[in-house]
Amino acid sequence: MASFAFANSMLLLNVLLIGLCLAHPINDIETQGWSSDEPLCTSGPLGMESGAIPDGSLTASSYYSSTYLPRKARLNEGNSHWWAPATSAKQGSWIQVDLGLPGPVITGLIIQCRPSEYLITFSIQYSSTGESESWHDLENAEGDTIRFNKDFTGGQRVTVTFPQVLKTRFLRILPITWISYPDIAFEVLGCRDGIIRLAGGDDALRGRVEIYHDSAWGAVCDTNWDIQDATTVCRQLGFPGASEAKNGSFYGATELPIVMDRVACNGTELYLRKCSYLCKENSPCTSTAGLICNPRGVVRLVGGPTKTSGRVEIYVDGKWGAICDTEWDITDAEVICKQLGYRGAKQAKSGAFFGQGSGPNLIDGVKCDGSEAKITDCPSHCWEKPKCNNTETAGVICVEG
Ligand SMILES: *[C@@H]1O[C@H](CO)[C@@H](O)[C@H](O)[C@H]1NC(C)=O
Ligand SMILES: *[C@@H]1O[C@H](CO)[C@@H](O)[C@H](O)[C@H]1NC(C)=O
Ligand SMILES: *[C@@H]1O[C@H](CO)[C@@H](O)[C@H](O)[C@H]1NC(C)=O
Repeated sequence: MASFAFANSMLLLNVLLIGLCLAHPINDIETQGWSSDEPLCTSGPLGMESGAIPDGSLTASSYYSSTYLPRKARLNEGNSHWWAPATSAKQGSWIQVDLGLPGPVITGLIIQCRPSEYLITFSIQYSSTGESESWHDLENAEGDTIRFNKDFTGGQRVTVTFPQVLKTRFLRILPITWISYPDIAFEVLGCRDGIIRLAGGDDALRGRVEIYHDSAWGAVCDTNWDIQDATTVCRQLGFPGASEAKNGSFYGATELPIVMDRVACNGTELYLRKCSYLCKENSPCTSTAGLICNPRGVVRLVGGPTKTSGRVEIYVDGKWGAICDTEWDITDAEVICKQLGYRGAKQAKSGAFFGQGSGPNLIDGVKCDGSEAKITDCPSHCWEKPKCNNTETAGVICVEG
């Protein structure tokens, strides 16, 4: 660790120094939903048993009686009265836990039932907002809802490992079949290390960068903080890159310790902790790093005679690009116009009607059914290699408000 003393004059050694921070080895995670990658850090209990997950985080669709409240679903509540759904509720009952924002990485659960009154099968749902329309079933690779079937008969703790890592805020257990009154206690398994949040900004796109490290939130020093570093952070948060890096505690000072210094990303890393950096302990930095991310799925009209018409461009992975006109029709145009806040579409235009753009062509064969809120929600032939040139791009004429 003595090498830290020389770090200021040895910036070029950044890459070598990463090794000093590897007390918590990290791999990749996805920012939403499933990832095929390993979790960022070693999976462990997230706090049902320790109490780190507070009582208020636990809710249920119903409970059998006041001795079977949702907050009783902790493994150490004693094994006589855990959570049990009301017998009248049967199918569709659930118990839910709010793991806080930003959601941790979840790898599985530990579940325990009473030896005589236990689950037979159950499913899992997750959501990033907890709103009623936002829940997804945990599915297998074929897209079928997974019905977990574990042996709870002896009253032992059973570890349920999810087939892939999940990153989410809300998690639900839904009993499907059971014996008698299924008393259920559980623990959520996962980790928070390396998770990022933005603080001190007016909206979700901007703020001071804070990272969860060693069981606590910490801040990032602004020394050498630049757009490449900001780009990597925004990508980790699920945004298409950054528009600005902010130094000098632009989004306010913080009481939190600074845990990363001299961050040096090249902007292609998926996670901040993949970049080279110094652990903070020996640096005198007090000024924090901030940023502004690019919004997701942005659409604009370019090259038209009025603001309600033009070539459709979408912002993906840090650049504006066009949409190929293959099968481009009025239904697709409607989705674009509504996404832009207009009443609807008057015409769909093909063949680079509003001129050729200089960006790449990003989607081909868009086929909306008209119910979508955003063009990126519509099915399309491909995002990977659109087969059109700049003379074959899509445009719209919208009808204003
Ligand atoms: C912030 O970054 C700019 C551009 O690199 C630099 O000129 C300025 O001195 C920095 N300010 C602080 C407070 O570090
Ligand atoms: C960026 O950094 C990553 C991780 O250090 C490295 O694998 C990648 O090759 C770099 N990319 C460029 C364009 O320098
Ligand atoms: C674009 O593609 C069309 C259809 O394949 C073709 O006719 C046209 O020559 C191409 N234009 C350019 C500039 O490559």
